[in-house]
Amino acid sequence: MKFTLKEGLLLGSATAATQIEGGDENNNWARFAAEGKIHDHTSPTRAADHYARWREDIDLMAKMGLKIYRLGVEWSRIEPARGEFCAEALAHYREELEYMISLGIRPLLTLHHFTNPLWFEDMGAWECKESPDIFMEFAERVVSEYCDIVSEYITINEPNVYALNSLYWGTWPPERKSMGSLMRAFGNMTAAHIRCYNMIHEKRAALGFSKEQTLVSFANHLRVFAPKSRRNIFHRISARLSEYLFQSAITKAMMTGKCRIPVRRVKGVKRGKYYDFIGINYYSRSTVSGLDDGVREDSFKNDLGWEIYHEGLIELSNRLSKRYGREYPVFITENGTCDNSDSFRPRFIYDQLKMISETDNRIERYYHWSFMDNFEWREGESARFGIVHINYETQERTVKDSGRLYSSIISNGGVTDEAYEKYVAPRSYHE
Ligand code: BGC
Repeated sequence: MKFTLKEGLLLGSATAATQIEGGDENNNWARFAAEGKIHDHTSPTRAADHYARWREDIDLMAKMGLKIYRLGVEWSRIEPARGEFCAEALAHYREELEYMISLGIRPLLTLHHFTNPLWFEDMGAWECKESPDIFMEFAERVVSEYCDIVSEYITINEPNVYALNSLYWGTWPPERKSMGSLMRAFGNMTAAHIRCYNMIHEKRAALGFSKEQTLVSFANHLRVFAPKSRRNIFHRISARLSEYLFQSAITKAMMTGKCRIPVRRVKGVKRGKYYDFIGINYYSRSTVSGLDDGVREDSFKNDLGWEIYHEGLIELSNRLSKRYGREYPVFITENGTCDNSDSFRPRFIYDQLKMISETDNRIERYYHWSFMDNFEWREGESARFGIVHINYETQERTVKDSGRLYSSIISNGGVTDEAYEKYVAPRSYHE
């Protein structure tokens, strides 16, 4: 064996509804695509056609041995107009959830993953004062439908990436560039998460489940911020400030209800502990010399130019455990890389899992992003993150070498010499 998986570490994958399902025009990303805003002119209305092919995909997941699966529901399908819930969509997800559970795959359900129904988007989405109430109407309905069979939830995916891209940098819909908008959205998302955390626990308790039988948190997008030059005090200050503004402030607010700039305090938010695990989405390190997002020149990079820096995941996991309590397990709710030809992904998976398995940390779950190639937001279909290849023209699924390696790691409890020689040894990163 090249290495044995850390004891108790469960492996699976993650996806998001809008990125894989196809067929839904009622959300802000479908409209953004129709306006010609996606770099490669593709649209989430096609994606991987998972809404129709879910059974085939879950069968494949089970065949590959995945034990856990983080998936999302599409809000605009479930609540196509405010207060109108679609029984068919609710039944659809229930069938899919029951099916994966029957095959031994444990779901972790995400309620909000970047996309908004058009009616919500057009009333100001997360900027609007009523947004926590509106989100709760949807969340309560979804949780009521599934909480007898689903015990694990992510309330909101990456509030920082959503709010910064959509409302501060203006690169995502609705392309706003306003500090006030950002602060309002951060405040409202924090309030929604906290209310949702309590609501899920209440609903599960009403069914007789103990507190420990329910796991709720949010998926935090964390980066490592390093100064371009350690000797330069401005670079060092920039790194600290970027980290605070990008992730530390919102993390603290969501997890504990302590709101400080840039998170606007919303009435009714009380201090507490609003997490049952520490959820980390990790992709890269930023090397900064100002409030920017630079990349180290002499580093290995993925196909989107993001630095490959596996140590970052361990550093962040340890930092959050120290800050928020070592008694909480860490779930890597996303980790993966854009490698369009699967030329280095097997090595990426090998290196990351080896590091998780051989270092001291509290990581108990690893959800690889992503199960299949999908609609990568502004990059569209061109940026491939899957361990399963999607031919978008025919919708044919083909397991990549990275998928074969992943599957063999699960079935062998680590990387065998043979798997290493076959999948990892011939692969290398590029600068
Ligand atoms: C998001 C995913 C996205 C992935 C890769 C994360 O920030 O949650 O939706 O596809 O990163 O960019």
